[in-house]
Amino acid sequence: MDMLHRPRRLRKNDAVRRMCRETRLSPDSLIYPIFVDETLKGRRPIESLPGQFHYGLDAVAEAAAQCLEAGVGRCILFGLPARKDAEGSSAWADHGVVQEAIRTIKAAYPDFYVITDVCLCEYTDHGHCGLLRGQEVDNDPTLTILAQTALSHAQAGADMVAPSDMMDGRVGAIRGVLDRHGLQEVPILAYSAKYASAFYGPFRTAAGSAPAFGDRRGYQMDPHNRREALRECALDIEEGADLLMVKPALAYLDIIRECANSFALPLCAYSVSGEYAMMKAAASAGLVDEHRIMCESALSVFRAGAGMLITYYAKELAQAMKRGDIG
Ligand code: PBG
Repeated sequence: MDMLHRPRRLRKNDAVRRMCRETRLSPDSLIYPIFVDETLKGRRPIESLPGQFHYGLDAVAEAAAQCLEAGVGRCILFGLPARKDAEGSSAWADHGVVQEAIRTIKAAYPDFYVITDVCLCEYTDHGHCGLLRGQEVDNDPTLTILAQTALSHAQAGADMVAPSDMMDGRVGAIRGVLDRHGLQEVPILAYSAKYASAFYGPFRTAAGSAPAFGDRRGYQMDPHNRREALRECALDIEEGADLLMVKPALAYLDIIRECANSFALPLCAYSVSGEYAMMKAAASAGLVDEHRIMCESALSVFRAGAGMLITYYAKELAQAMKRGDIG
């Protein structure tokens, strides 16, 4: 054997191992989901998501403070309104739960970055992400309402809006309305490749947003499809998306890689409620080391090509990065 070409075992030494890492992580790439409940005072544990809480409007600034304390400077807000109706009208109410949460957080921590989830399923009494015509979601009339919702979030001070409804044309509709109201600088994070997934189960329990009948397969993507994700991303880019998202994360690492290779836009992944709940359940049964699988799972998402990650573990991950367990 030609000894000159013998590969050295770089990974034997910790200092070299760290130097040669191909994936670098930073707390700057983490986004923490916050659930705000209009009917609540203080905070209440979310049963389906151990370690997570619903926050009342009086406690939402404290949720932001805890993020900042842990080194996480960004959140995505989800609202649980006091009232639901067929049109989801609480979603775009001037003093709706998300609108008020934005104002409260921004008053206390102006630099804390606030993204809002733009969707109707938490606000409609039927639990679908758009207006209904009979038993079907009516795509086009829904666009107006989504755009109005995004506008009200931005006017309340949201830094970025993230439509998660999966209606066709919603990015363009939202962009148009924001621009007409002088909000050209508010970026759109498009849930572009959002699959019709069983991994959203614990979220729907937490947000009270499970559809009253049927499912979301009419508007969310079929898990069998890969090329369709590229098409969804391309359409969102054409309509004016600024950042793309793949969701869920762990079961869709191939899609993350493919989107990272195909598009120049910043790419976000959402490690969803079911992923978190599975890790929590396995850990509490003593089957796995929670800290290590949390770190390894997050790492896999960045290695697959995501530049940022929405995760219920954001605070713990930021701490892990600070300690040097990953990063
Ligand atoms: C709203 C929305 C959902 C999630 C984010 N935004 C639920 C759904 O589509 O049913 C899921 C997030 C999670 O599971 O953590 N449409």
